[in-house]
Amino acid sequence: MYISLQGISKQYASVWAIDRVNMAIAKQEFVSLLGPSGSGKTTLLRVIAGLEKPTEGRVLIDGQDVTELPPHKRGVAMVFQEFLLFPHRTVRENLAFPLRMMKMPKAEMDERIDWALGILSLQGLDGRYPNQLSGGQQQRVALGRGLVGRPKVLLLDEPLANLDRELRQEMEVEIRRYQMKLGIPFIYVTHNQEEALSMSDRIAVVNKGHVEDFAERTTLYDKPKTAFIAQFVGRSNKFEGKVTAADGGSCTIDAGGLSLTASGNGGLKPGDAAFAFVKNEKVALAPEGFVGEDNSLPCTVRDVILRGAYAEYLLETSDGLGLVASRPRSGEGPSIGHAVVAHWASGDVDLYPVKPDLGLRR
Ligand SMILES: Nc1ncnc2c1ncn2[C@@H]1O[C@H](COP(=O)(O)OP(=O)(O)OP(=O)(O)O)[C@@H](O)[C@H]1O
Ligand SMILES: [Mg+2]
Repeated sequence: MYISLQGISKQYASVWAIDRVNMAIAKQEFVSLLGPSGSGKTTLLRVIAGLEKPTEGRVLIDGQDVTELPPHKRGVAMVFQEFLLFPHRTVRENLAFPLRMMKMPKAEMDERIDWALGILSLQGLDGRYPNQLSGGQQQRVALGRGLVGRPKVLLLDEPLANLDRELRQEMEVEIRRYQMKLGIPFIYVTHNQEEALSMSDRIAVVNKGHVEDFAERTTLYDKPKTAFIAQFVGRSNKFEGKVTAADGGSCTIDAGGLSLTASGNGGLKPGDAAFAFVKNEKVALAPEGFVGEDNSLPCTVRDVILRGAYAEYLLETSDGLGLVASRPRSGEGPSIGHAVVAHWASGDVDLYPVKPDLGLRR
């Protein structure tokens, strides 16, 4: 593999910000580190960049152990959320800055800058100052500063967090395109699941300093390996209860009077405490009186939230349990106040054991 992280840990005083992380990343891969605030994403990126020394473990890039090398000798570049451009320097001068640090001859420097301007569609803007650019153009210049040095790896730490939603979505597509054009790995840190899902080949979910799973984005979304991932990726209904019956093929859970059927048993046996997750889009709505699938639940529609192409139905059972169903807006859906039956297939229930939260593993 092109990049190999071997048993990386990073301790700050009493905190293990990163705890025994192993990852192997291929040359053409777009990888995201996805996790909540404080989970250790930036720390891991800084260890790869050489801005932090790991307490334990090795970093290998392109076959070379770079653990002891300073940042500028690793062939990596990093782009930050606060992409501080020099305000009194033009785009061209901003792009020249990292090359000056490398003491590159002028002719080669110009060639590199023109190459970056081309890749980033910034031709003709090289004489402008940052305040004469749009937010997206400024972000592209920041990316350009990372790319001019022709790094072996580009590290990006929430580079789109300061942009509004529309621009962010445009930039997601662009960043992915640059990565494919350059053929180098991008490692992209975000706490935003949509961003990670839209761009990445594989996603590493980071939780309290360790990697919960490192998997293809579709696998991560469709078959979350842990309850943490099921909760963090996608939008789901979460139930907590006790297993009342389990055999090889199916499992029944009592969640506060509500009986749920799941296919498979998730390694659980009767009496075990379990979490069950059902993605909002897997909850279908039928007219009152419907009896059918393994799981059906009479509800009242309390509210309908429009989300563009789809709508979210906020439902409530007679016991006061809240549920969310999302469905495409084509065709007519039930209105607020209507009685409906929410139903879903047992195969769409993801089950996990309830484990005591041990926090950091050491
Ligand atoms: N220089 C430092 N000294 C002490 N503790 C630190 C230092 N840097 C980070 N930490 C701690 O390490 C943990 C991980 O921090 P990190 O910045 O890597 O999280 P993150 O996942 O990037 O979070 P965010 O999404 O908020 O940026 C946190 O508990 C943080 O407080
Ligand atoms: Mg961070």
